[in-house]
Amino acid sequence: MKQKIVVTGGLGFVGSHVVVELQNEGFEVVIIDNLSNSTEEVLKGIQAITSITPIFEKFDLRDKPLVVDFFSRHHDVLGVIHFAASKAVGESVKLPLLYYENNLNTLIYILEELQKKASSNFIFSSSCTVYGQAETLPITEAAPIKEAESPYGNTKQIGEEIIYDTCKVSENLKAIALRYFNPIGAHDSVNIGELPIGTPQNLVPFITQTGMGLREELSVFGDDYPTEDGTCIRDYIHVVDLAKAHVAALKRLISGNNTDNYEVFNIGTGKGSSVLEVISAFEAVSNQKLNYKIVERREGDVIAAYADTTKANNVLGWKPELDLKDALSSAWKWEQRIK
Ligand code: WQD
Repeated sequence: MKQKIVVTGGLGFVGSHVVVELQNEGFEVVIIDNLSNSTEEVLKGIQAITSITPIFEKFDLRDKPLVVDFFSRHHDVLGVIHFAASKAVGESVKLPLLYYENNLNTLIYILEELQKKASSNFIFSSSCTVYGQAETLPITEAAPIKEAESPYGNTKQIGEEIIYDTCKVSENLKAIALRYFNPIGAHDSVNIGELPIGTPQNLVPFITQTGMGLREELSVFGDDYPTEDGTCIRDYIHVVDLAKAHVAALKRLISGNNTDNYEVFNIGTGKGSSVLEVISAFEAVSNQKLNYKIVERREGDVIAAYADTTKANNVLGWKPELDLKDALSSAWKWEQRIK
């Protein structure tokens, strides 16, 4: 009997790549997605890779009765990996209540259902955004949590606190939060990737759309930062490596090897790359010049953020296998496929 794992937001960018890795590891996957930021086409992409079509239930996790009904029907769920959330930093500033409702109510409803079970395992999609501008680089899990720069970032901080407090009083519930750095790229088969819904807020999809001529030029948000080339530094991690970290975290919980009921891991490559370095790496993999111009800084950007991955390496037994060029090459292949 296959072990059943629920993936909320499983038709999203990171979620769909995690579904593929879970299926590769022999888990039965049930996806919950409201399709607010994805399409059912992604199911075909997953099946094209693994030849297994995951069970898919379309509903909104803000609808508590539907969440209760789901878990009463799927009482054999071994674990939940929770991606379903709104994630646009800028939008969250304009629509805070939408973000607090969508990102926190849904988390609470799921945890309430898991608390009822004899034992359950929960993986939470968190973000390095909780660190703000860290004093020390690379960033370890011991780095202080800074005041959030946006409601989006705040929902990740509050979400972690909700899980921590719940696990403290629920012996039967074990959880791991994975603090992502910057996920980029696509599955090598180019059957799944980052769907281009609306104008990309993130750097790499904007670069690949500019490379395709879908965007006139990339605006580089500032080159007057105190870094080597003046542009911000981030830790860009291939989404497939990130997906594999979720499987490693889930296996840790299922095996009972976790030392605390709630653990946190930074998931990045451990290497920082500036915006200009990403641009030149893209030009190398696409063998073309990229149109870009330097403009003013973007509100809320931190100067530099890249992970110390020692804990994930040693405790999860996970380390990234792909580098920036692999990720950009896959992102470019994906962009060309979906043109
Ligand atoms: C990266 C760098 C920009 C676009 C955010 C969230 C994080 C996660 C990933 C959800 C920055 C520069 C960008 C552009 C640019 N979100 N840039 N021109 O802001 O590090 O992280 O997205 O999961 O939680 O905080 O990612 O890709 O937006 O920006 O110059 O058109 O690229 O200034 O230095 P960010 P990003």
